[in-house]
Amino acid sequence: SSSLIPPPTLYYPPFPTGQQIALQSKNESWKFPKDFWYGVASAAYQVEGAVKDEGRGPSIWDVLTHRVTNFVAHNDTGDIADNHYYMYKQDIARIAAMGIKAYSFSISWSRILPFGSGEVNEEALKHYDDLIDTCLQYNVIPMVTLYHWDMPLFLQNTYGGWLSDRIIDDFTEYARIVFTRWSSKVSHWFTLNEPIVFCNFYPLPANTFKATSIPPKQQPFVCGHNALLAHASAYHVGKSLNSSLTISFKNNGGYKIPLTDSAADREATQRAYDFNEGWFANPLFLTGDYPTSMQPFLSTFLPPFTAAQKAALNGSADIFAHDAYTSSFYSAPTDGGIPACTANASHPLYPACYNTTSVYATGWNIGPAADPAAAWLNWATDWVPAFLRHVQATWKPRGGIAVSEFGFAEPFEALKSRPEDVAFDPVRAAYYRAYLEGVLMAVGEGVRVVGCLAWSIFDNLEWSSGYTVKFGVQYVNLTTQERFYKASFFEYVNMFNTYQET
Ligand code: NOJ
Repeated sequence: SSSLIPPPTLYYPPFPTGQQIALQSKNESWKFPKDFWYGVASAAYQVEGAVKDEGRGPSIWDVLTHRVTNFVAHNDTGDIADNHYYMYKQDIARIAAMGIKAYSFSISWSRILPFGSGEVNEEALKHYDDLIDTCLQYNVIPMVTLYHWDMPLFLQNTYGGWLSDRIIDDFTEYARIVFTRWSSKVSHWFTLNEPIVFCNFYPLPANTFKATSIPPKQQPFVCGHNALLAHASAYHVGKSLNSSLTISFKNNGGYKIPLTDSAADREATQRAYDFNEGWFANPLFLTGDYPTSMQPFLSTFLPPFTAAQKAALNGSADIFAHDAYTSSFYSAPTDGGIPACTANASHPLYPACYNTTSVYATGWNIGPAADPAAAWLNWATDWVPAFLRHVQATWKPRGGIAVSEFGFAEPFEALKSRPEDVAFDPVRAAYYRAYLEGVLMAVGEGVRVVGCLAWSIFDNLEWSSGYTVKFGVQYVNLTTQERFYKASFFEYVNMFNTYQET
């Protein structure tokens, strides 16, 4: 249509035509299936800006950024962020020009319902109408997340957000509005993003919001309980409006490796899976209920699910959508509690769990900064296929697995400000190549992986790290709002140009 913006000039030259990225190993005849979707992802508060515009109501993140000193590095806020609320047309043009198949973004609940429930804001509906239509015009599959951590402030202050079961009805109503509006245009949906994270860190009172009588140790589990029920309820609303929708839930975690082969370490690793992935995946994919190892622990915390709730939960995710960034070792905790990541001093890539010398700017335990790229490749091709095999064997998702987020933050990148420096991101490029080779290995071995989404479309507000940590495959000059492709973006796309069936 005439409203299409012409594709941008490519800033960084793509690989010379015909250049193959040699696979480490394995089998050059392996291919990503033709319908495998590869995309880029974002989330409303991290990229939109325009927080006071067009009727948006406040979310908890407006308070966490503005009212809680040092909750976010440098007291950065999402007030302007990447100005994506106004620049989405050219942002979609830019990813379409790269050949990207899918764009995964979240809807801001407090734009649609400024008070979380009740009055609907037409302007917001029109905004997302156009965002979705723009994706469709550019042949980019829109994928929509309903909740990416930005709880409407009113609901947090009225009843504690996820800590009250009142959230279930309010989330369901919000989901009904959104599904009703867009279920004929959007086929891929995610209800909740990473409840393990938002239930542990982000909705909790911490003296900022209305007090709760729920003891701090129990809060994550109460939050998770309500999140599961809200998800299931929204899922069934969506499917009843359009049974062909793919609706799932973004869980997170990663490959877990026993520190030694001892029975105690293997048991601890299983327990770590149970309290992480299994907390949400077992109810949705296996039994409608929590892992058995969690139940004695939770009996004092939580009401059990009723038979009807279990039935509603069981099977209420069409694909296994997983945000998988890294892997960790586990060993038996001395206090008998929930196993946490363990350093493995004898492994070159796992010197510590969260460490300042990590090659990863967030300190995630994937090796020292001095690590040669070669070790990286082996690292990712080891754990990525192993993890995907584990997911398929354990949870047997009927619609396959999507890597709904993966990505990389280069150390020191945030200190660079010239586009030509930031666009040169060889370690991120190596990450994408190695990771995707791992996915391809899993695919080649028969694991059903249906798609993947790179985090992120561009650098953005990395929650409590603010703008000090950058995950983008594009750099954004936050003063001018100019965007620049990074080399890793070309590497990402080139893996599919080379290894996808045509
Ligand atoms: C997962 C979250 O969904 C996203 O919001 C965050 O920015 C990335 N991980 C990177 O930490």
